[in-house]
Amino acid sequence: MSRIVVVSNRVPVPSGNAGHAGGLAVALLGLMQQRGGLWFGWSGAVTEGVGPPAFSQRGAVGYATLDLTEAEHRGFYTGYSNGVLWPMLHSLPHLMAFRRQDLDTYRRVNRRFADNLAPLLHQDDRIWVHDYHLMSLPGALRGQGVRNPTGFFLHVPFPAPDAAAVAPGIRGLVQDVLAADLLGFQTASDRDNFASTASEFAGAVRTGDQQMEIGGREVRLGVFPAEIAAREFAATAASQAALEPARLLARSLQGQQLVLGVDRLDPTKGLPERLEAFRRVIARRPARSATMLQIAAPSREDVLAYRRLRQEVDSAAGSINSEFGEPDWLPLRLLARPQTRDTVAGFMRLARVCLVTPIRDGMNLVAKEFIAAQDPNDPGVLVLSRFAGAAAQLSSALLVNPHDAEGMAEALSCALDMPRAERQERWQAAWESIAGASPEGWGEDFLRALAPGDLAALPA
Ligand code: ADP
Ligand code: G6P
Repeated sequence: MSRIVVVSNRVPVPSGNAGHAGGLAVALLGLMQQRGGLWFGWSGAVTEGVGPPAFSQRGAVGYATLDLTEAEHRGFYTGYSNGVLWPMLHSLPHLMAFRRQDLDTYRRVNRRFADNLAPLLHQDDRIWVHDYHLMSLPGALRGQGVRNPTGFFLHVPFPAPDAAAVAPGIRGLVQDVLAADLLGFQTASDRDNFASTASEFAGAVRTGDQQMEIGGREVRLGVFPAEIAAREFAATAASQAALEPARLLARSLQGQQLVLGVDRLDPTKGLPERLEAFRRVIARRPARSATMLQIAAPSREDVLAYRRLRQEVDSAAGSINSEFGEPDWLPLRLLARPQTRDTVAGFMRLARVCLVTPIRDGMNLVAKEFIAAQDPNDPGVLVLSRFAGAAAQLSSALLVNPHDAEGMAEALSCALDMPRAERQERWQAAWESIAGASPEGWGEDFLRALAPGDLAALPA
């Protein structure tokens, strides 16, 4: 079996930022622990000089990580990746803040990754590059003479060509990505949008559902929805429900229904809209019938849009509590801190409703985690944005449009009042769609398709 080399900006280096919230690290960690290989990317540190990679080993996984300089972090990570590509890819162009030098830095950091990775590669390695931070990497690796089978997976959505065009520099990035052999997406619509953009911007020709041609070379396109370890998460949730953090939370509820939100504090997650829906519901129901707990882990705090969002969410939460609170009761608890994944699992098990209402989201693993965490005898209800990739799989959830506050309020009320038989029926259908899947299965599907010449291995 050939070695797998995973490349991602965010690497959960064992001694460092392992508790960091984010779907990419969660999806890849299980795969790498099981399969072994080399994981290459950013160390998470910002330092003075540009040094060689640092190496460490944990079990079968070797880590090779680079620090970023202050200027690289500002231009590559904060500036172009999260200030331009992230909002464009999620169709939020008004949040873009472009500076030409950030695009130059983005390209330079992608080249530095390629320059440092190339000497570490073995002849029969398969290379798997992840996410929007590294769209130039496949092109940069080819520029270094690397000929290994190379795949690229986009964890986030890809919009239609007109919406993609708003990001300066995107044409070159699409060309660079097309240097890979296999491109993976969360949904069929992300794949199709990318293919249209690649035709329009880079002259690639779509020769089938799952392939394109560019410069006489074939590039394959596949759909690989990211998965969680559902059975493992279910067991964690069940055992955590009996432990301290969940027990204290349960006791504090005094019989009220728990409405839960778990997100990174990110403009794509629809938090102000969600709080508005909750405000409407709480205004109509008796005091002390339901309490909302929103866990919002601070994220990308160097990006202005994220700092503004923090203020907006704090202020909306404050106004809900000042308007509807009682001397001995507050309807909303907002924690702007990450919790461990185990603690979150226990909280999910207690919740009657989970609000997963992003404006747009590649997949959204929280939605799948909530389903996995439920007690099959008395499950809670998932209220899910139709603009999350997960909605394609979890169609038995209450699907909502996050721009429609009243529609979301109705769905939340309906969830709070839903009889047990309907909750069980909806939950069962959702559970069946995730129970057999795993991050390892997801990874193996992609890697099998990346095996040279194996077109048949692409899932339909
Ligand atoms: P994203 O990748 O955009 O953050 P996902 O929902 O796909 O969104 O993945 C987020 C992952 O991080 C999940 O495994 C989730 O449990 C975890 N997570 C998200 N927010 C928090 C939080 N506030 N505290 C702890 N874990 C979190
Ligand atoms: C999303 C992105 C990942 C990213 C994660 C956390 O899941 O798709 O690429 O790692 O968010 O964001 P961060 O900026 O902290 O890495």
